[in-house]
Amino acid sequence: MRPLLLLAVLICFHCILRKCFCTSEQDKVLFIIAATQEQASLLQNISSHNETVLWQPASPSHIAVKTPVHLYIQSSSVSQITELLRAHQFSFRVMLENTQQLIQEQIRNDTTDPKSGGMTYERYHSLEDIYHLVNITSQEHPDMTKLILIGSSFEKNPLYVLKLSGRRGPVDKAMWMDCGIHAREWISPAFCLWFIKFALTFYKQNADITTMLDEMDIYILPIMNPDGYKYTWTTNRMWRKNRSVREGSSCVGVDLNRNFDANWCTRGASSNPCSDIYCGQYPESEPEVQAVTKFLRSHKDSVKIYFSIHSYSQMLLFPYSYTHEEIPNHTELYELVQEAALKIRRHYRNQYRYGSGAKTIYLAPGGSDDWAYDQGITYSFTFELQDLGRYGFLLPPNLISSACNEAFAAVKTIALRVLEKLQ
Ligand code: ARG
Ligand code: ZN
Repeated sequence: MRPLLLLAVLICFHCILRKCFCTSEQDKVLFIIAATQEQASLLQNISSHNETVLWQPASPSHIAVKTPVHLYIQSSSVSQITELLRAHQFSFRVMLENTQQLIQEQIRNDTTDPKSGGMTYERYHSLEDIYHLVNITSQEHPDMTKLILIGSSFEKNPLYVLKLSGRRGPVDKAMWMDCGIHAREWISPAFCLWFIKFALTFYKQNADITTMLDEMDIYILPIMNPDGYKYTWTTNRMWRKNRSVREGSSCVGVDLNRNFDANWCTRGASSNPCSDIYCGQYPESEPEVQAVTKFLRSHKDSVKIYFSIHSYSQMLLFPYSYTHEEIPNHTELYELVQEAALKIRRHYRNQYRYGSGAKTIYLAPGGSDDWAYDQGITYSFTFELQDLGRYGFLLPPNLISSACNEAFAAVKTIALRVLEKLQ
């Protein structure tokens, strides 16, 4: 008997002995809505426990009456927690029950040679493969790319920016895009890689791409949180933060999108190192954030557009997230994301919500987009890519291309409009 089959039979046998079904031995994601304040508090409590991981919202403190909650629950606690929810008359349903299968699908086909076979960009890649891909891409396009080491992570993994430029002389404008601030949002680094490939492939073939690369430099950081990303491949698929260790605390990691110096650690972030939205010991305490801010500060004059790519929930956001107050050019940015969202709806039949971060989701201080905005990069955006929760962070590889195509349409729409304005 093949070893894998044998293993499956043994696991099933173990299940039968324990009077359960094979398929129920899986982690699940529940969709839950609190109808009353008591339910909301109870749900905050449940989602703070170790056997669960909150997918949406980012922290228990954001759970309120009538906000949809996506809660990942370890197999060993599923029956206990569903019984508790039933006892308290919660309205809930199972959102995902084949989590293990989806995770397997996401890590399949990742060979040490990412160039083997087609579809490189419709797969998820390990950290090593991402480094390799970026490296060979820069070697294959010496005339249009430059690899820039901007710093390293807490665990000393390199932070590489790939600079894309058209075949022309120097220009004075630039755009920045970072991916993978949050470790578990795998579609994000996949999009940065896809963007690089697409731009280099269609330069001088597609007019919009040619305009973008001829009129500005594009700096891309495909993976801002390499340590966390690696950890999601090796140990915990649901990890969000980086992996920095702090003396005196047994909890690991800082939320890099709460660590920027933008109303740092006020309402919407946490000073508890064990929280998923922990802001760190002080603003820019994390080497990953230091590397990005140092680079952007020294390129402040040229960088006009800032994009940060996250998932999931399909939203096109702009500052502020640290206050409900509107930015001076609120209307201008609102019209840009509105146009981008319309384009996605028309061409890809997908709905994206849009608006300022604080009004569209929740207060989230210390974010990269708000920091970039306050540095004077007045076209600053955070995108939340697919999906709406059907698969959440476990978006299957066959949806990568659709997620990337529509996100590209949005980036392109905004970038071209801004270039027009800057003429
Ligand atoms: N969902 C992401 C987060 O919790 C983005 C929220 C928007 N916040 C921001 N500063 N852009 O970090
Ligand atoms: Zn995120």
